[in-house]
Amino acid sequence: MLLENKVAIVTGASLGIGRAVAIDYAANGARVVLAGRKEGPLQEVVALIKAAGGDAIYVRTDVSVPADCKHLVEATLDHYGRLDIACNNAGILKQPLDTDLFSIEDWQETVNINLNGMFYCMKYEIPAMLAAGGGAIVNMSSVGGKIALPGLAAYVATKHANVGLTITAALEYAERNIRVNAVGPAYIETPLVSTNFPDMWDILNSSQPIGRIGQPEEVAHLVTFLSSHKASFATGGYYPIDGGFMAR
Ligand SMILES: NC(=O)c1ccc[n+]([C@@H]2O[C@H](COP(=O)([O-])OP(=O)(O)OC[C@H]3O[C@@H](n4cnc5c(N)ncnc54)[C@H](O)[C@@H]3O)[C@@H](O)[C@H]2O)c1
Repeated sequence: MLLENKVAIVTGASLGIGRAVAIDYAANGARVVLAGRKEGPLQEVVALIKAAGGDAIYVRTDVSVPADCKHLVEATLDHYGRLDIACNNAGILKQPLDTDLFSIEDWQETVNINLNGMFYCMKYEIPAMLAAGGGAIVNMSSVGGKIALPGLAAYVATKHANVGLTITAALEYAERNIRVNAVGPAYIETPLVSTNFPDMWDILNSSQPIGRIGQPEEVAHLVTFLSSHKASFATGGYYPIDGGFMAR
């Protein structure tokens, strides 16, 4: 039980990696607040966690709306009285297109969710963690936070910015007992990938040296470790979880 007595927020918790993180946090003893836009899927994950003996609630949240992020933290404090951990995971990836063909609307939506949403969440999470005496934040970047992925300019730009935001906050709060790290998955089997690359499973599987696509639970285990006291000396880091993708 790595997270016993901790209270954690997970954004984008209805599907994919966020869902796996919420379930793994709860399995490790955390009381979990699931944030996302769609109530039905969030309710299902809360029910799953409770059926396994865990404790969770959901708060309907669009991370691109600052007032929603403020309300998410307020609702967490109202219900559980504190905040110790946050996994800022919500993110989108639009259909790949070269930069000149990419629409202004898709660019703005990607920036609003992937980058602005992470900042809004941290802006409200950090004071609550300071009040609790410290905390741990794990931000979801990507291999696209370190290298170029042609066709994905908005995604790559925001995922690089996620790393910049992470390392800046890590230094700002290092002496105030809040650790801030970023995680960088390569291709993981989630709706985000199956929607955008439906005909590319062979390529995705072979593009990672380990020879297969990753599973959301494999990312969740790293996120849980970084969120826990076992990672007490880890801050300001970017942790690849990519089957060797970045090692080539
Ligand atoms: N799947 C991969 O291969 C992969 C690789 C690298 C990084 N990532 C990153 O991991 C994170 C999760 O990706 P995933 O593959 O699980 O995606 P997914 O599409 O399967 O799930 C994304 C989750 O975020 C939520 N979300 C989207 N916009 C939101 C908003 N405005 N407010 C609140 N919630 C919102 C969705 O509802 C969903 O629950 C993303 O940040 C993504 O960039 C994924």
